Amino acid sequence: MSRLESFRRRLNAQIDGINWAIENIGETEGENTNAIQGDILEMGLGNGRTYDHLREYANRRIWVIDRVLQCHPSCVPPKADFLQGEADDMLVQMAQRGTQIAFTHYEFGIGVSDVDSAEATRLAPLIKAVMAPQGLVVSQQKMPVMTQIDGPPTVDPDRYFFYRNA
Ligand SMILES: C[S@@+](CC[C@H](N)C(=O)[O-])C[C@H]1O[C@@H](n2cnc3c(N)ncnc32)[C@H](O)[C@@H]1O
Repeated sequence: MSRLESFRRRLNAQIDGINWAIENIGETEGENTNAIQGDILEMGLGNGRTYDHLREYANRRIWVIDRVLQCHPSCVPPKADFLQGEADDMLVQMAQRGTQIAFTHYEFGIGVSDVDSAEATRLAPLIKAVMAPQGLVVSQQKMPVMTQIDGPPTVDPDRYFFYRNA
């Protein structure tokens, strides 16, 4: 597979995975008692592409963690929702404040599999600590402490990973 094809596969996985999670946590407004309560957490603002997709389609507060603010100018999150710093510290602070997350999208990583997977393994219990019961995690890396579930059938199960905080 060429790098270009791999890039397309990542974008498709992100769009389909994020849409799937938004649909599965449900709408909190109205009569839907099955909706998973809580906010959304975007881990890795980067250029802001996935954040922009989230804010376009999800009707919830979106917290964003990144150590730097270097996104496209049109994608700067509201100051109150941007948690700038190391993820470990930001997640501990969120847990202490009692923030509850219905859906986390995780896209940290530098493309070096050992390093990226060690970081995700370290952060997984801290992410779990802010997740609502039954909350969903859509992740570029494996998250060993949560229950892996099937995502949308259009996403290659080796490309993106889907978890429920069961
Ligand atoms: C691949 S980019 C995210 C791309 C983004 N989702 C998009 O669609 O444009 C990863 C981002 O995660 C941030 N990051 C990686 N590890 C981090 C950590 N441990 N704490 C805070 N930010 C981190 C980096 O600064 C970088 O901006």
